[in-house]
Amino acid sequence: MAGILLSPSLLSADFSCLAGELAALEEAGVTWAHWDVMDGMFVPNITMGPAVIAACRKKSKLFFDVHLMIERPGRFIEQFVDAGADLICVHAETEPHLERTVSEIARLGARPAVALNPHTPLAMVEYLLPQLYMVLIMSVNPGFGGQKFIPFCLDKTRRLKKMITAKGTETLAEIDGGVTLENAASLVAAGADILVSGSAFFAFPPYGERHEAFMTAVS
Ligand code: DX5
Ligand code: ZN
Repeated sequence: MAGILLSPSLLSADFSCLAGELAALEEAGVTWAHWDVMDGMFVPNITMGPAVIAACRKKSKLFFDVHLMIERPGRFIEQFVDAGADLICVHAETEPHLERTVSEIARLGARPAVALNPHTPLAMVEYLLPQLYMVLIMSVNPGFGGQKFIPFCLDKTRRLKKMITAKGTETLAEIDGGVTLENAASLVAAGADILVSGSAFFAFPPYGERHEAFMTAVS
């Protein structure tokens, strides 16, 4: 992957016209779209499931970066792959058989990723790094958009990057939660390859200019 990417979180998009929002993102030069799937169990909120992603898949060529905030995601991998997810990210805290689930994602043809809650140690993913396309560092407690970045996640990003270098893998680092134009540069300096942004992106149309502003902030 060349350069830093922005993956706008659709959690802050207009849910009444997701296809239109996806088209506007493509028009804006964005290449990834971040889907926040929530089950009301792992996190105290409910959003969308595979049926909504499948319907939108028919309308968009964007790379679908699917972040599952659901209990025992291993039960649903096939459904999300069939729905058109390009990448599936499961939380380490939700799946006791994480290696099995990561292998399953890859076997079914999607890119495997693991997310860690802010307090969850990096050691949870250390042995899986050779199998992981990406590690997602949650920099807020998952469940809602518009929260403040938790400062210790900057150091955690640096340590993740060191761990990846030490293991010699190509694993990418994605940061999700409280990302703004103001902290974007420091996150990239710490080693982030992909920045997720919900409220700091969708509340500031036109999307093309906002995307450009993020790219300039990290260049
Ligand atoms: C939080 C989600 C995030 C969220 C980010 O549970 O995983 O993707 O939408 O939103 P902001 O950028 O507003 O913190
Ligand atoms: Zn997310």
